[in-house]
Amino acid sequence: MDKNTIDPAKSIPAFYAGQSIFLTGATGFLGKVYIEKILRSCPDVREIFILMRPKKGLNLNERLEKMLNLPLFDKLREERPSNFKKLIPVLGDTSQENLGLSAVDRQMLTEKVTIIIHSGASVKFNDSLKYAILTNTRSTRDICILAESMKNLVALVYVGTAYTHLDNPFIEEKMYSPVADWRKMIKVAELLDEHILSIFTAKCLNNIPNTYIFSKNLAESVIQEYSLSLPCAIVRPSIVMCSLKDPFPGWIDNFNGPMGLSIAAGKGLLQVLCASNYISQNNMPVDTVINTIILVTWKLGLTSFTPGSTLFVVNCTLPDEKSISFRECCNIAFKCGKEIPIEGILWIPNTLFTESLIMHYVLSILWHILPAILIDLLLKLLGHRPMVLGLQRKIYVANRALQHFTCNEWKFDDTNNRDLMSLIPSSDREMFSIDLSDLDIKQFIRNGIIGGKKYLLHEDMNRLSAAKAHFKRVELFVTTFKAIIGISILWMMYKWMCS
Ligand SMILES: NC(=O)c1ccc[n+]([C@@H]2O[C@H](COP(=O)([O-])OP(=O)(O)OC[C@H]3O[C@@H](n4cnc5c(N)ncnc54)[C@H](OP(=O)(O)O)[C@@H]3O)[C@@H](O)[C@H]2O)c1
Repeated sequence: MDKNTIDPAKSIPAFYAGQSIFLTGATGFLGKVYIEKILRSCPDVREIFILMRPKKGLNLNERLEKMLNLPLFDKLREERPSNFKKLIPVLGDTSQENLGLSAVDRQMLTEKVTIIIHSGASVKFNDSLKYAILTNTRSTRDICILAESMKNLVALVYVGTAYTHLDNPFIEEKMYSPVADWRKMIKVAELLDEHILSIFTAKCLNNIPNTYIFSKNLAESVIQEYSLSLPCAIVRPSIVMCSLKDPFPGWIDNFNGPMGLSIAAGKGLLQVLCASNYISQNNMPVDTVINTIILVTWKLGLTSFTPGSTLFVVNCTLPDEKSISFRECCNIAFKCGKEIPIEGILWIPNTLFTESLIMHYVLSILWHILPAILIDLLLKLLGHRPMVLGLQRKIYVANRALQHFTCNEWKFDDTNNRDLMSLIPSSDREMFSIDLSDLDIKQFIRNGIIGGKKYLLHEDMNRLSAAKAHFKRVELFVTTFKAIIGISILWMMYKWMCS
């Protein structure tokens, strides 16, 4: 796309004024931050239709009300409370054909929507192949079919992932050959039952580490095909972590991916991790990812669409100069974790990395499973519910699921991302910044720990001194315990040598 086709006079909020957005994944980590940012920073947007399903006994309105009460929305509540009315829940389910939309809702969306953001996906790495394809690939096809019927569509932005083309060590902002034919795979997923398809899963995935990546890879090729007739773009975030500054630093609300393991490490439950000490981490602040989505939509919307033009792909990744090794990242986190410890730690947070599967397995039994059995036994004797073994099982499964990403490294081209940055009108640079050149990684990690404590673990920061005192007690206990074990071993060796 040509930089010159962008109208520099059209500021980002001016572009969004009067737009009707259809958002999937609205209740997810990214979706919520997107809603907050648009309603606050592009206040004249006409409406946002949010695809939602009932969950955990709550209907759409109850879910929406609960969601809007989150601290994430405090600033919006203060600055533009009336804008909440612009959110319109639409009943749907992306695992169903045609997104599970009713004919009436479909008609309404067709007539009103001008922008589609497709962020909804099942992000579980261990979903069945059938569910992953139906939810992540077929829904993308059905979004495109819906988009084709829209009269006033100016942009369809698909939220992909930077990790869909893992056989390339350097991932460019372009389309790669898909792993399979998406049409055939959707057919197969529709026709075969769960059990039969699970037998073929390993064969289908080939070298792809999980069904999530497989289904997202296919979804990209769906978008590519429809981009010949629709104004589409793909934004590929790497690993999305807490917010950098918007609406405040440290916002995070899900345990997915590395966040769950970080919390386990902070509790002292993760003493060994199957990971490389040397590979670099690519963690993106969620607000930067959302600003990228907003900017890509703006660019698409202001560029006249020519059928057959090249699909616009943006890698939403940390610049090379800012990425640090996984080991360094952990060391910083452990140092911060000493000043702002998680409440009720069970052991001193300290994690050994090993790339050897056998070593990981043996050390997991020695350092995770055996102590967990002992602690659970103690809990049972004291009349409490045993739970540590269950937690360690989850940690082991999560570690193995993430192992491909903690032991391998990819580099990402970010030329389109940088070009996008240069297009932002100067009046909008601050509000929609995607520039991470001044990122203070230590501060970012520190804010992430505070955010994890406040928003994931619901800890009160006023209890910090009690958490610190507990940390010191555990430290003393662990040091004494290790000293006793060390002295006992030396004593036994001395005795054995003297005998
Ligand atoms: N977070 C990351 O690190 C990361 C990195 C790269 C790419 N991405 C991509 O970013 C997008 C958003 O991820 P996220 O982190 O926000 O994930 P998330 O927190 O797990 O949210 C997923 C969203 O998708 C919705 N969804 C899932 N299955 C659905 C179904 N059957 N019907 C209707 N809605 C359904 C969920 O709705 P419910 O609340 O009803 O479950 C939720 O709103 C995804 O496409 C993901 O692939 C995320």
